[in-house]
Amino acid sequence: MKYSYKDMPESMKGTYGDFSKNFGFSWMEFVATIPSPLFLVTTYKSNGLPNACMQSWATFTSANHGKGFYAILTSVNKNGHLYQSINETKEAVINFMSEEHHAECMATIQNNQFEKDEITASGLTVEKASWINAPMARECFMNLECKYVWEKEIVPGDDHVMLCLEVVGIHIDEDHMADKTGENGILYNIHYPMNPEKVTKTGHDYAAVLQKKIDVGEY
Ligand SMILES: Cc1cc2nc3c(=O)[nH]c(=O)nc-3n(C[C@H](O)[C@H](O)[C@H](O)COP(=O)(O)O)c2cc1C
Repeated sequence: MKYSYKDMPESMKGTYGDFSKNFGFSWMEFVATIPSPLFLVTTYKSNGLPNACMQSWATFTSANHGKGFYAILTSVNKNGHLYQSINETKEAVINFMSEEHHAECMATIQNNQFEKDEITASGLTVEKASWINAPMARECFMNLECKYVWEKEIVPGDDHVMLCLEVVGIHIDEDHMADKTGENGILYNIHYPMNPEKVTKTGHDYAAVLQKKIDVGEY
């Protein structure tokens, strides 16, 4: 048997799944609970200080007949420092953290003042990128140096945009060369899972890791 939902179930009315539309979230997001990779995007603000922004609504793809690898950040707030700084410099680093440094990366949200070096203030170390003008977070095990390609509103007039970045170079910590997934690998954001048939008063967000299940071989 399958449960089917087209409109928000009565059981979710008045819950976080309902009022969080004020922060830009659809109730369907919590019912579907599709995880997405979690990372820290670092840029230079117009005052020269490093900016750091947690991002998760995103995907990665090859394009241009295999000549390029691209990040699509699918929901970037137009009112944040990331959007402002990337439009000024056209360059950013995407930093992947393992579980060990999740707390410091999350602290960047509290240290989100324009006059702050958000990386250092959060207990992380600033490193200069090699091929672009942007800072990186040393403690993150993989850093993708990126250049801005384009942006698009999913719906005209939206307050968030999709940003396409081309990956121009990659740094990987030696301990992660063999595997970037698994226990110590890339974290995924599980955003407030809700069961409309059993709504609880409070919910949780989770950071998850991947477990390999099936060896598909080559295809
Ligand atoms: C797990 C997690 C994922 C997030 N993903 C996004 C995202 O995809 N897009 C976005 O605009 N903000 C996202 N945020 C919120 C920003 O990280 C937060 O508002 C940040 O302080 C904005 O930084 P900025 O002003 O430097 O842009 C996320 C926050 C968390 C905790």
